[in-house]
Amino acid sequence: MHPQGKNEIEKVLEKLKSKAETCQRCRLHKTKTRIVFGVGPATADIMIVSEAPGYWEDQRGEPFVGAAGKNLNALLLQAGLKREEVYIANILKCRPPANRDPLPDEIEACRPLLEGQISAIKPKFIIALGRISAGELLGRPVTMSKEHGSLVDCTYAGTSFKLFPTYHPAAGIYSGRTKLELQNDFRKLGEMFKKV
Ligand code: URA
Repeated sequence: MHPQGKNEIEKVLEKLKSKAETCQRCRLHKTKTRIVFGVGPATADIMIVSEAPGYWEDQRGEPFVGAAGKNLNALLLQAGLKREEVYIANILKCRPPANRDPLPDEIEACRPLLEGQISAIKPKFIIALGRISAGELLGRPVTMSKEHGSLVDCTYAGTSFKLFPTYHPAAGIYSGRTKLELQNDFRKLGEMFKKV
């Protein structure tokens, strides 16, 4: 059972979303079209944390709706998960121009929103997509080729959960080997869920 009721968590998330809508803590508010706060059930056991919105996400205001989204939905199915049962968020709520990597000061400026989401939702598992997201949650640099595909204990914003670092789905679009590793990781994750 979640310690807080669903309505209370939804209220907390709505407040955070309003904050994001008027946020001017970094340069990205000037170039974004829409903020991409996050979607999914407020009491989700599983959360996905990725990097930042891309072109289509910025247009639509929803995470993972572009090509990477199609890829992500297929990967979730490999783990026996439906998109609707996970909460999906990014480290940055605004798109970096030309999809460049988030800058350290942008990550820092956006941190209170991610901290707020995680401490409200209190997921049991977080799937970190890409080294930037895994590095933010673990608080140290991550080498994905060495650390992907296993569950590790993690505490972020006072909330403890099992972290599953893996590659960013966009990396799988460009490299065949990474695509196979991603598919393997999600299949493995599905097996792990069966055991807990
Ligand atoms: N890539 C991300 O990291 N996040 C999205 O929401 C879409 C693509």
